[in-house]
Formats: sequence, C-alpha cells, structure tokens
Amino acid sequence: HAAEAQRTDLMTITRHVLNEQGRHPESRGDFTILLSHIVLGCKFVASAVNKAGLAKLIGLAGDTNGEEQKKLDVLSNEVFVKALVSSGRTCVLVSEENEEAIIVDAPLRGKYCVCFDPLDGSSNIDCGVSIGTIFGIYMIKDKDNVTLDDVLQPGTDMLAAGYCMYGSSCTLVLSTGNGVNGFTLDPSLGEFILTHPNIKIPNIGKIYSVNEGNAKNWDAPTAKFVEKCKFPQDGSPSKSLRYIGSMVADVHRTLLYGGIFLYPADQKSPNGKLRVLYEVFPMSFLMEQAGGQAFTGKQRALELVPRKIHDRSPIFLGSYDDVEDIKALYASES
Ligand code: AHG
Ligand code: MN
Ligand code: MN
Ligand code: MN
Repeated sequence: HAAEAQRTDLMTITRHVLNEQGRHPESRGDFTILLSHIVLGCKFVASAVNKAGLAKLIGLAGDTNGEEQKKLDVLSNEVFVKALVSSGRTCVLVSEENEEAIIVDAPLRGKYCVCFDPLDGSSNIDCGVSIGTIFGIYMIKDKDNVTLDDVLQPGTDMLAAGYCMYGSSCTLVLSTGNGVNGFTLDPSLGEFILTHPNIKIPNIGKIYSVNEGNAKNWDAPTAKFVEKCKFPQDGSPSKSLRYIGSMVADVHRTLLYGGIFLYPADQKSPNGKLRVLYEVFPMSFLMEQAGGQAFTGKQRALELVPRKIHDRSPIFLGSYDDVEDIKALYASES
C-alpha cells in the first residue's frame, strides 16, 4: 500500500538531510543544525509574507501606505542573521541587505559560511506575487583565521545551496551536492515534507524567461538567441515567454518545466544585474545538480571567482540543450 505509506511515513527535510549526511558522519549534526536554523528563517518569512497581505488590507483603512514592503525586507534579513549566528555553526555571513560581510564573534563561531538573499523579488511583494529566499553554503578554511577570502571562492567550492519560494505554497528546494530535492511546507505540521524527490530538469524546454524590455541594449549573442526562441529557423517550435521578475519563481519554473532563464549583460550593465554569491551561484549549483547548465556568456558560472562580495554577473541557466545554444552563439562571436 504505497499510498498509505506516503501518508504516514513523513520524510521531513531534517530526516532527509540526516540520511544524506550518513556518508559524512562527522559533519552530520553540524550541517543539520545549520539547516534547521535556515528553515526557521524560511518559516518566519513565509508567515510574515502571509501576514503582509493581511496588514495591507488593514492598512488600506489606515495609512501605513508602502511601509510593509521595506519592513519585510529588513525584518527577513534580521531574522536570518540572528538565526544563523545563534546556530553556532557559522563564521562568515554575506547578505544582500548588508553592505559588509558579518564575521561571527569567536564564541559563537562554527565552520560554515552562508551567503544569502533574504528576500528576492521584492518588487513583487505589494501585489502578492511569489518571492523567495536564496542561500549558498561554504566551509571555512581555517576557523582561527576567518577572512573575506572564505566567501570569495568559486561556486564549485559550494557545499550546498537552495531557495525557498513563498508562493501559492511554500517550497524549499535544496541540494547538498547529491541531486536536488524539493520540500513543501505543511503549515499544519510546521514541517517541510519531501514532495519533489530527485528533481531533473528536462533536456530542452519550451519556455524562455528574460526581461525583454532591456532588448535594445543587449549584445549580439543574446539578441540572436531570443530571436531564435521566437523565430526558429531549424523547424523547431517557437518558445513561450514567461517572466515574473522574481528570480526564485522564474528559476523554480525553469527547473520543473525546463527552458532557460537569462539575465544577460547589456550596454548599461555590463555585468548584468544579479549577484554572484547569493543569486547566480546557488541557482547555478542547483541547475547543474538537476542536469542543466549555467553559463555567464564567457564561462561556466560556477567557475567564476568573485572579487567583491556583491559582485554581479550575467547569467544564462536552465535546460542543458538550451544553454548549449547560447554557448554556441557566444563561441561563434569570438
Ligand atoms: P531583489 O528583490 O533581491 O533585489 O532581486 C530582484 C531581482 C531578481 O529577483 C529578478 O530576477 C530581477 O531582480 C528582476 O530584475 P528586472 O526588474 O530588471 O527584470
Ligand atoms: Mn535578489
Ligand atoms: Mn533581495
Ligand atoms: Mn534588492
């Protein structure tokens, strides 16, 4: 009775990670504790996002106009920073919301570095469209000598990465370097339950996702690629355009349905918009782990070496064959 087993044998995210870490018994406890603090932050944001909608309704009667949005950004960041520091398992934190990296005080210091975007897609808060949290995790080199270099590492050194999407349901997608799994928050249990085991992205997709309003400033390979999505010359079907403007939601759809998400360079922003440490790297890690690819226009995204914590990079990520196409266009350019 498989169906019954599914209902009663609940694979929580904690249980899943404990199983996965079985191969590394020495770090089992520490990573699980770190993750449980990240999960706490996600649950807090999920609940705050729901309340924000309600507060807005009440706000219409009063005049708290526009205040909620800023509060939610700052609030989410504070919750994540405090949860991560108090886990006792972190030493360097990089947040989109903090200009400087946070070096954890020695007594609370642990061996993990966490780079995160506490609230991604913030322009979508006010209209109730999906937003998310993104995180990437590294291991410190020397606990007694913590430096910024501990986070200025290529994405290939990442131990784990994930995101949580606050949408019609709350979904946490995680990879510890052993494939990708998705967990959905059961609000009545307060637990993330494995609902999307071993996610694999289709090899080719029917969707492209880009802010096409920037097209006049694109470089030739990007322009050619998007033209090809709309007017394929090789008999393949044209692709549909989907763009939410929340990276988490656009990447989540790309992961499940296939296709390609791009935030390319343009004349105004030669490095694109998205940040390497807490947007490009975690999403690239997940894509590769799911069988897709991530490319910057010059190289494999995970091989970038960031020079500053808030560095940006152009990014093309998604289905293996779709990313092959854009790689070929850049190769024929040079
Ligand atoms: P954030 O809300 O953390 O600042 O990030 C917003 C990002 C990302 O979520 C999204 O993919 C991108 O901005 C959309 O940018 P455009 O509005 O330029 O398309
Ligand atoms: Mn963001
Ligand atoms: Mn953000
Ligand atoms: Mn921002």
